Amino acid sequence: MFTAQCLGVNGHGHLTVGGADCVTLAGEYGTPLYLLDEGALRRNCKAFASAARQSFGEDAIVAYASKALCCKELCRIAKSEGLHLDVVSGGELYTAMSAGFPPENVFFHGNNKTAGELITALEQGVGHVVVDNIEELRTLDALGAARGKKQPILLRIKPGVEAHTHKYVVTGSIDSKFGFALENGEAAEAVRLALAASGVRLDGLHCHIGSQIFETEPFCEAARVMLRFIKQIKNETGAEMSLLNLGGGFGIKYVEANDPLSPEAMLAAAGTAIDAECAVLGITKPRIAIEPGRAIVGPAGVTLYTVGSVKNIVGVRSYVAVDGGMPDNPRYALYGSEYTALVANKALEPADFKATIAGRCCESGDLLQENAMIQRPEPGDILAVLGTGAYNYSMSSNYNRLPKPPIVLINDGKARVIVRGESYEDVAAFDI
Ligand code: LLP
Repeated sequence: MFTAQCLGVNGHGHLTVGGADCVTLAGEYGTPLYLLDEGALRRNCKAFASAARQSFGEDAIVAYASKALCCKELCRIAKSEGLHLDVVSGGELYTAMSAGFPPENVFFHGNNKTAGELITALEQGVGHVVVDNIEELRTLDALGAARGKKQPILLRIKPGVEAHTHKYVVTGSIDSKFGFALENGEAAEAVRLALAASGVRLDGLHCHIGSQIFETEPFCEAARVMLRFIKQIKNETGAEMSLLNLGGGFGIKYVEANDPLSPEAMLAAAGTAIDAECAVLGITKPRIAIEPGRAIVGPAGVTLYTVGSVKNIVGVRSYVAVDGGMPDNPRYALYGSEYTALVANKALEPADFKATIAGRCCESGDLLQENAMIQRPEPGDILAVLGTGAYNYSMSSNYNRLPKPPIVLINDGKARVIVRGESYEDVAAFDI
């Protein structure tokens, strides 16, 4: 019945997250409410860290992709689990630095970093800037040289591998705004420029083929393509690429039909492919890094709402309106993303009611889910949407001037606020 790892049902028939009663939490903190189970979060960190070590070697790096959910406490948790961090903006970098995250363990991504962001990265001592394009390479080189620094970099490469996922999150093909293409010589040219530059030090390569991927083969194929390019670089320039970052994209279970592999199985397949390809090519295996985001935080999250109206339109559909919507979770409106929902105060009752779960925005497309089978809802019920830890809060907005909900972290039944909820004053705070 349940898709997330952190769920249960207590003696009152109420859904629990990390051992805490969702109905009680909704009463205490109000709704909408983002919940995160710290136990599940840390288990996921540990599972990736140990699978990466096992499949890629003791020096393997797991960087949490903070775009999935970036706040200071998440950075602290990633740090305490020994993970590195992927940031993609000055704002994410600022959050990480304010949380005391070690800058040397940060990968700084982005297809259009500003000069200001690059200067911050240099001054903070960011571990690797992942350079996306020639203009960025030139800018960073000049900025580094002017400061007498050689900024360590990776080059973002498009491996030309197709992953079967939503077209908005496919990133590895030549028709992508991210990175250098291999097919047209762009990538080789970038390598030559980087090796000749005095303000940067080229340590290796990066690729990311997409998100919410279930098959192992696209990861394996991307790794082989990258290793072949590493061999080509060695042949043509003599330079060794010591670090290969294969990005994130590991799929999670949102609904019963999703069947993700464990981190162990996913990474074992990639590890085998990497070892085999290195042997065929006769190259030394580079240090391997991966960047899971969704798979770390997604399954640990649940969002709670209060049901307002229930409109049964006979012969059409039943709209179940909740007190949140696309501002706290735009993923259904954007991608038609599937989720599992249930009525938290009726968790043991049969889920025999077909609902269109609607948000409260002034917009017909403000839906959280269509054709969701849930328990018979009534006004005042608490509706839970599962698996919302990734790309919900991080993609949230104040559309219709709705304040953003708080994030409450649960550990062994105990709850604490890690991001406070916004007030109307907050929503209007920047208005002049
Ligand atoms: N590394 C890089 C360079 C990335 O661009 C991404 C995601 C990741 C790692 C982490 O991917 P993950 O393991 O979380 O799949 N907003 C979309 C997802 C966009 C993903 C963007 N890049 C969604 O809500 O599904």
